[in-house]
Amino acid sequence: MRRKLAAGNWKMNGTKANLAELDAMKSTAETDQTDVLICTPATLLSRAADAVSGSPIAVGGQDCHANASGAHTGDISAAMIKDAGGSHVITGHSERRVDHGETDAVVAAKSEAAYANDLVAVICIGESLEERESGKTLDVVGTQLAGSTPDAATGANTVIAYEPVWAIGTGKVPTLEQIGEVHDFIRETLVERFGDAGNDFRVLYGGSVKPSNASEIFAVSNVDGALVGGASLKANDFNGIIAAL
Ligand code: G3P
Repeated sequence: MRRKLAAGNWKMNGTKANLAELDAMKSTAETDQTDVLICTPATLLSRAADAVSGSPIAVGGQDCHANASGAHTGDISAAMIKDAGGSHVITGHSERRVDHGETDAVVAAKSEAAYANDLVAVICIGESLEERESGKTLDVVGTQLAGSTPDAATGANTVIAYEPVWAIGTGKVPTLEQIGEVHDFIRETLVERFGDAGNDFRVLYGGSVKPSNASEIFAVSNVDGALVGGASLKANDFNGIIAAL
């Protein structure tokens, strides 16, 4: 039985003042007994880890370098995320793929760096609007899933997040049928590759999830939770999503 996961991605948002939001998420996370994760900016991670200590909320990073250390100005390693108190790291978010030219191979290498440091990799995949409109969604998602997911992936060290690029921050959400089609496809693909163990991976939906649409999205087959951007910044919104799980 896969446990549901409500994951937040604060992206490049938040300063110390925003840590109060984490405090205000604790009681909902405790009452609901669901898995909750917030991926903060690197500058906040250590403080965020202290802020959620003793609660069911986990914290993580939004990216890591594939290398262990070295001359990579501005980057952070998986070991640094672990050291700061993180348990997870997002890899291959579409904003990194677009802004920093990250390929599937790079995403796989970053995910391996996560495993080497005992972090769970939240591997993101998803098609652009143009790819969706030209009927290439499953091809694109299948290629990204195959190339970004290391052979060492398991349901314990990896979460897959399906985030259609055109639904991120736009208020546009695929139909429930479209979400179900892709999530079923991801599940089948994981089972083809990993056998029964493919059933252990949690597959999250991401893209304009809000308290008002979370319940219907969570009811779709093979949706094991959500990776939430904007609505994870405020406890009022995110608590509604946790409660919908
Ligand atoms: O990683 C989460 C994400 O890209 C979705 O963002 O703001 O549409 O929930 P948002």
